[in-house]
Amino acid sequence: MLTHDSFQRPIISLRISITSRCNVKCLYCHHDGIMPQDNEMTAHEIFKIAQVARDIGIKKIRLSGGEPLIRKDIVEIVEKISTLEFKDVSITTNGTLMERYAQKLVDAGLKRVNVSLDTLNPDTYQFITSRNYLDSAKRGIKAAAQAGLDPVKVNMVVMKDINHQEIWDMFQFCKKNGAVLQLIELLKTESCPDTEFIDKYHFEMNQLENELTNRADKVKTRAFMQDRKKYFVDDGEIEIVKPMDNTEFCKNCTRLRITPDGKIKPCLLRNDNLVDIIGAIRSGKSMEDLKKIFIDAIENREPFYGGC
Ligand code: GTP
Ligand code: 5AD
Repeated sequence: MLTHDSFQRPIISLRISITSRCNVKCLYCHHDGIMPQDNEMTAHEIFKIAQVARDIGIKKIRLSGGEPLIRKDIVEIVEKISTLEFKDVSITTNGTLMERYAQKLVDAGLKRVNVSLDTLNPDTYQFITSRNYLDSAKRGIKAAAQAGLDPVKVNMVVMKDINHQEIWDMFQFCKKNGAVLQLIELLKTESCPDTEFIDKYHFEMNQLENELTNRADKVKTRAFMQDRKKYFVDDGEIEIVKPMDNTEFCKNCTRLRITPDGKIKPCLLRNDNLVDIIGAIRSGKSMEDLKKIFIDAIENREPFYGGC
């Protein structure tokens, strides 16, 4: 049975940040809402958290980072979690190490993947990430699709005058490689980036959304997925993620997070209500105690925008 928060939002998915380490340095990175640190959980501790999550009704697990594929035991982590028979086990990655891991991850039980790629231009990639790994990321996307991960979503954070001109080229690239293009609004969290950065590069998506509405054969609203819109265009798919000042996004948010140092984080956009879970696991608390910690954290969950 699903657990609901006090705003009647069911908690369906748990996003576990398994490391804060990353091999790229994106200029917009919100570090999944937390500041980098280095007290990582073990594979067994991550498994235990997933087990408690399953027992309180959570259906989907997403592994994120930092860069999750940087962990040497990533295949073991996926393998362990997959034994818990979630509806969905997925990863969000920058794709640069994906070619090496795609088949192993599928064999371990991974179902799908989101790959961050904001540009197809090597100079722009270098500017955004401070690295020259564009070819590895592109090969990672192809390898993920070939290994049978489905869907492969390409996360493109749209920034005015940096990459907004490339949206349709990115769409063609995605279509060619069997991927869905996910256009993401530049987001400000308590961790970063700063207001000046957002003001300079924030790209207003309204006009694009009108264009998509006109061009699309079909538009779907994903109710339990933060009310996101998915556009079916020219035999391809484009999804829009627009969280800023969006009360509908928060009203339909069904996620809970775990920080890389083992804290339950009820909202990506705030850091003032973290709940320690790893301490309880390390001190040998019972499954019942661990479930109670999760349920209490869920009950205290509040929408960031609007009162629902
Ligand atoms: P799926 O649709 O299940 O693939 O999830 P997703 O698209 O949310 O996953 P992903 O990790 O690829 O995140 C995509 C973008 O959504 C990121 O830019 C996040 O910043 C944003 N996002 C993800 N989760 C949340 C959230 O809980 N709150 C807010 N405000 N934004 C989020
Ligand atoms: N705004 C929007 N998306 C962001 N991501 C990281 N930081 C930001 C931000 N400030 C995205 C990455 C990755 C996903 C986990 O979050 O592109 O795809």
